Amino acid sequence: MAKPPKAKNAVPAAASPAAPATDPLMRLEEMKARALAGGGPERVAKQHASGKLTARERVDLLLDEGTFDEQGMFVTHNCDAFGMGNQKVPGDGVVTGVGKIDGRPVAVFSQDFTVFGGSLGLAHAGKICRLMDLAMKVGIPVIGLNDSGGARIQEGVESLGGYADIFLRNTLASGVVPQISAIMGPCAGGAVYSPAITDFTFMVEGTSYMFVTGPNVIRTVTHEEVTSEALGGAAVHNETSGVAHFQARNEAECLQGIRRLLSYIPQNNLEESPAVACDDPADRREEGLNRVIPEDPKKPYDMKNVIGRVVDPGSFHEVAAKFAANIIVGFARFRGRAVGIVAQQPAVLAGCLDISSAVKGARFVRFCDAFNIPLVTFEDVPGFLPGVAQEHNGIIRNGAKLLYAYCEATVPKITVITRKAYGGAYDVMSSKHVRGDVNLAWPMAEIAVMGAEGAVNILFKREIESAADPAAERARLVAEYRERFANPYIAAGKGYVDKVIEPATTRGEICRALELLRNKRESLPAKKHGNIPL
Ligand code: HXC
Repeated sequence: MAKPPKAKNAVPAAASPAAPATDPLMRLEEMKARALAGGGPERVAKQHASGKLTARERVDLLLDEGTFDEQGMFVTHNCDAFGMGNQKVPGDGVVTGVGKIDGRPVAVFSQDFTVFGGSLGLAHAGKICRLMDLAMKVGIPVIGLNDSGGARIQEGVESLGGYADIFLRNTLASGVVPQISAIMGPCAGGAVYSPAITDFTFMVEGTSYMFVTGPNVIRTVTHEEVTSEALGGAAVHNETSGVAHFQARNEAECLQGIRRLLSYIPQNNLEESPAVACDDPADRREEGLNRVIPEDPKKPYDMKNVIGRVVDPGSFHEVAAKFAANIIVGFARFRGRAVGIVAQQPAVLAGCLDISSAVKGARFVRFCDAFNIPLVTFEDVPGFLPGVAQEHNGIIRNGAKLLYAYCEATVPKITVITRKAYGGAYDVMSSKHVRGDVNLAWPMAEIAVMGAEGAVNILFKREIESAADPAAERARLVAEYRERFANPYIAAGKGYVDKVIEPATTRGEICRALELLRNKRESLPAKKHGNIPL
């Protein structure tokens, strides 16, 4: 007799035993074995062949050894459509539970692509939701390892409902517990919106992609030809769209990256980041910083060089390094305690603020503020980037996000103006006026409404035009303006800068300020929520 055709998504033999064991302990072992087998050896082999680990292998690599405590191992779907009634895999394509990272508890879900392509149905979503509810109740981070074909087609609208249940919890948990997403396979359609709401997204080169509509739909609608990788691969989302914050070369690196990131972050919004031992003296001088600023104010320098010399050695951990590189954001430590660093990068676009950098900075400032992480700002900003594209794409609305984020932040805020602080950007970057707590400036700082050339052209237009030698007159006026305004002493004289410091002493000044501000208390007026210019 001819064998009946294999049903689509047929579960592996191990997953559908003829009759369950009668001995309770044997039955438990059997059930566990079925769950651990996932989609069966063939699909596991395919997963490995495509350069990916299985859901459980990932959890093992992520967590401290032997700490994973799985929940919902025997959950199955309740769908009968398309022959699904007799295809049930315990766990329903997602491994959920709690474990530890560096001894601290975390909640983890890890989608199993070998079971129905990791697709999300109601039971699958229910497991994730229960995990998130628990994480919220006990105040622990949620880590999602995403590898899924999206909404489970057979379950129809129930899958969509399942996604929405998760989106709601992502939103409710935002600012309460840290949420981290790793994309370790496909992530398409509305499924991308869960990672998008979480705090940090990791992607793996070559095996992960994210898009709302894939290459086929794009081909039909806009007639554009694009591959999945070029449309939504790790490089695209780390460099161009800013959707992802970390790019890993492989899965192991990605999972290690999550562990490192968490070491800077508290468990929830009521706690502080863990402190680590530090033998680097608080008052360590860095003589090199006295010579870091080039004599020519138009010359760039690398702000990462400044940050690296000031923080605890090796502690700077950059976030979104490849997107909007004219602003630098990341975590670091001073005397073993975590801070968030926001800094201009004069080596890229002269460090000016544009749409992308403002949005990148704003999101980071808000994360730090939500999770009690003090902000240290290094400022060298010639202003906002001029240009029709910037204006038409909303530099006003987007620049306002960074301003809003700094104004709203009540964590300790320390600012070091290393060189330029011009125009509106001076106000934005954690100035005294937006509740900067300790505002420091290097002696090379230039704090003014605008740069000397621009100011002279506006103020002395007629004088320059009518001069016998306009170029010489302009140069004279520029030099005079620089002498008079391009320094930190006018701002210091008004109390807008607390201290003009020798650059070599910057670490000591910041450590002292952080100690002073440890118990800072500041609150916002009572309100439902603000209306950040989105
Ligand atoms: C049910 C699915 C599935 C899905 C994959 N599978 N996606 N089952 N629902 N969404 C199953 C396949 O049938 C297959 O089963 C197994 O998973 C592996 O899939 P393959 O196609 O063999 O793998 P691969 O070649 O690697 O391709 C992976 C893929 C492709 C690119 C993800 O499967 C695919 O395009 N799937 C559909 C993606 C999609 O359109 N999803 C809906 C997006 S919209 P067997 O039994 O053969 O192993 C969405 C809306 C969310 O998600 C809305 C939220 C608001």
